Amino acid sequence: MPPIPFRENNLIYKNSPDMVPGFAMDGPVSPWIPTEPGIENRFHLFDLNQNHFAVTVRCAPGSVIARHYHMGAVLGYGLQGRWKYKEYDWVAVPGTFIYEPPGEAHTLVILGDEPMISYFHVMGPHIQLDENDHQVGWVEAFNLLAYARQ
Ligand SMILES: [Fe+2]
Repeated sequence: MPPIPFRENNLIYKNSPDMVPGFAMDGPVSPWIPTEPGIENRFHLFDLNQNHFAVTVRCAPGSVIARHYHMGAVLGYGLQGRWKYKEYDWVAVPGTFIYEPPGEAHTLVILGDEPMISYFHVMGPHIQLDENDHQVGWVEAFNLLAYARQ
């Protein structure tokens, strides 16, 4: 994976008393970075003051984003393809507004033959779970930024 040219973004931290920086993608288009099988992420922003990140996610047909819950809210918007939460009947399509409340565990399942593309603003860490709802991972702006810069 090529190194990612994130730049420090004054707009993110100029009002912060502790001056913890944030990073935004340097350029109009960031690369797709793989995480789970079939899942790629185009990161736009890492806000290290608030531990937020903004990302466009692209998922191959039949792929799954493993069960997890968020410690803060997530706002999103469907851009392409169809997907649902394994735990619910609700289906997201292009143009769907998405809200994931803190503490609610879910598994994203891609439907149909078209890749899914959605935008998400993730506010805080999320906890990855196994099939018994035991924690198996921790994802947040800090470790994602480190991963994206490898
Ligand atoms: Fe989620």
